[in-house]
Amino acid sequence: MSRLIRAVIEPRALRHNLSTVRERARRARVMAVVKANAYGHGLVPAALSLPEADAFAVARLEEGLALRAAGITQPIVLLEGVFTAEQLLEAARHGFDLVVHDALQVELLEEMTGAHRFVLWIKIDTGMNRLGFPPREFAPALERVRRLKPSPLEIRLLTHLACADEPDNRMTNQQVARFRETTRGLDYSVSIANSAGIFGSAQLKCDWVRPGLALYGASPFAATSAAQLGLEPVMSLESSVIAVRRVTAGETVGYGAAWTAPRDCLIAIIAAGYGDGLPRGLPGGTPVLIAGARAPIVGRVSMDMTAVDVSAVPGVHVGTAALLWGPGLPVEEIARHAGTIPYELLCSVSQRVPLELR
Ligand SMILES: Cc1ncc(COP(=O)(O)O)c(C=O)c1O
Repeated sequence: MSRLIRAVIEPRALRHNLSTVRERARRARVMAVVKANAYGHGLVPAALSLPEADAFAVARLEEGLALRAAGITQPIVLLEGVFTAEQLLEAARHGFDLVVHDALQVELLEEMTGAHRFVLWIKIDTGMNRLGFPPREFAPALERVRRLKPSPLEIRLLTHLACADEPDNRMTNQQVARFRETTRGLDYSVSIANSAGIFGSAQLKCDWVRPGLALYGASPFAATSAAQLGLEPVMSLESSVIAVRRVTAGETVGYGAAWTAPRDCLIAIIAAGYGDGLPRGLPGGTPVLIAGARAPIVGRVSMDMTAVDVSAVPGVHVGTAALLWGPGLPVEEIARHAGTIPYELLCSVSQRVPLELR
């Protein structure tokens, strides 16, 4: 019998997507966002597959440490910066670049003793209201950063967009205008665009771009597919059939007897459930690719198994391969069925699912 659930990762597709990003954001350097286990693709294998990335971005110190432990020598940016003197020292030891988004972080830098010098990314909050200095607090923060002893290796500026995934959303232009106004006259490198910013239509100045989702081959837009953007899915969530049964019209399938067969059906049980990261809320009718055909999920997703109506798919047997998402079945489509976004599905692939590099 063929293998049970696994997330097959294609480094070639990852590299392809990086070059698609580069074509789109010519002249910009690329900070590959690999936080949250590279959106479920494996932090270290993903980073090792991208020797061409100009830098990596992670959210937490521990993620950066894992990259260094694996021998990654490119710059690593901590997108949330550090929060204690110990973390700052650790960041210095490993040569991390820091986002500075709060006065407390400037204080930590001011109080640091020793000769450590950092590349510092000052984050400006242009409307997301999550992290960053509001425009009126930016100039004093910059002044303090400029006066640090020893001086920073380099100062750079960034902001993050709230609505770039919605084409023509006015907020994107407002945020960009606020950023320009706040940074007018300054000659620092800047970074604004995430995946949606890179592939969207707004004119964004980009010395650096910060793609996450696009690198993994998914589209950030509801109305434009990854294929239309020239992106290829990197993850295939593959499993196989572990049982096939005939169900007579009127019989039910699974917990809560939530689905009743409208006619005599052939049901395949796939080894994939919410224990693997498949949302329990996936509604009946969500497709699974099985023997090359789309077959609908029936009944409730359970912890280890999901039932699929394969009445219309010839030749399904125990061991037949099933694709939950990947080439031919975009994760964005499954996310729509689940009422969520591809980010969440990719990040939710659980620890028991082995990652396999193809
Ligand atoms: C500050 C920052 N930049 C870039 C990204 C990458 O975003 P995306 O995956 O939409 O490209 C993220 C992800 O959430 C982020 O928090």
